[in-house]
Amino acid sequence: MIIKKADIGYLEEIAKIEKEVFAHPWSAKSIKILLEDEKSVAFIALVENKVIGYCGLNTVLDEGYITNVAVLEKYRRQGTGQTLVKALCTYAEESSLAFLTLEVRKSNFPAISLYEKNGFEKVGERKDYYSAPKENALLMTRYF
Ligand SMILES: CC(C)(COP(=O)(O)OP(=O)(O)OC[C@H]1O[C@@H](n2cnc3c(N)ncnc32)[C@H](O)[C@@H]1OP(=O)(O)O)[C@@H](O)C(=O)NCCC(=O)NCCS
Repeated sequence: MIIKKADIGYLEEIAKIEKEVFAHPWSAKSIKILLEDEKSVAFIALVENKVIGYCGLNTVLDEGYITNVAVLEKYRRQGTGQTLVKALCTYAEESSLAFLTLEVRKSNFPAISLYEKNGFEKVGERKDYYSAPKENALLMTRYF
């Protein structure tokens, strides 16, 4: 598996991952902004030239906001999610970001566990942040 910074050429493959993984996938337009905005970055995980996972990050000054981390179901539990989150943390360190933060469904144990493993801590909770199904979001942050 190879991790690579994504460019606009990966728009369609990332959109495909979004559709396969999330009930409310990001639109191609939102992904395009992620890939083209100089204040954002995305990494892809490739196996035999196929995108099997991706993650994204927006920055505001020295703050980093993780947008999404997703791995195709078939390829999970093989270390890809871990490698993607590590790529975001390395990027944050190299870019002198003060912290990385994100929201995650309170019941999303795999993702919460992944973030905790990478030094993120629960710092708050947003009530009914998600819809269909309605659920609280946990706010998780790692300071650098
Ligand atoms: C969360 C997700 C990205 C993990 O990807 P993955 O490639 O399976 O993760 P890894 O194999 O690298 O696992 C790394 C760590 O994540 C945690 N983890 C991953 N899957 C888990 C599961 N099913 N149950 C419990 N912990 C899990 C563990 O801490 C694991 O470390 P370990 O292997 O030492 O136990 C993947 O399950 C996914 O795409 N989920 C759907 C999308 C999503 O919910 N994204 C997060 C939105 S905020």
